[in-house]
Amino acid sequence: MMSDLENHFGDDASIDEESNKNILAYLVKNSAETSSMESSWNFLNSIGDKDIIAMSDTIFWKETHKDIDKKLYNHKDIKNKANCKACHSDIEKGLIEDENIKNLSAFK
Ligand code: HEC
Repeated sequence: MMSDLENHFGDDASIDEESNKNILAYLVKNSAETSSMESSWNFLNSIGDKDIIAMSDTIFWKETHKDIDKKLYNHKDIKNKANCKACHSDIEKGLIEDENIKNLSAFK
């Protein structure tokens, strides 16, 4: 993915070579393969031998989000299902427990 940032999920996300090297090193060091978090395992396990790069395309993600009304992703404060932080307030800290998920009725 880092070698083709000109075509990043439909966007041109290209950056300079130095930044690219730094980000790549970070991604490899912090990949799900090196994590002991249960959700990392769940994501990896549900990829199997499929060629999936978007977390939201994994079976695990689809399964855990199947009860969410698809229309909600068009909400102005969410915009896209890849906007994990819109609902998972503390996802950057790795906190994905239920108590760290916003009450979805707040988006109505
Ligand atoms: C519209 C709000 C919303 C968005 C956007 C969203 N999620 Fe969720 N997510 C939820 C809700 C609600 C649950 C809990 C579902 C349940 O328990 O029935 C959940 C559950 C999860 C879980 C399972 C947690 C567990 O208990 O094992 C993971 C992991 C997760 N989300 C990751 C993500 C990631 C990564 C993204 C972005 C690619 C994302 N979510 C985007 C609302 C959202």
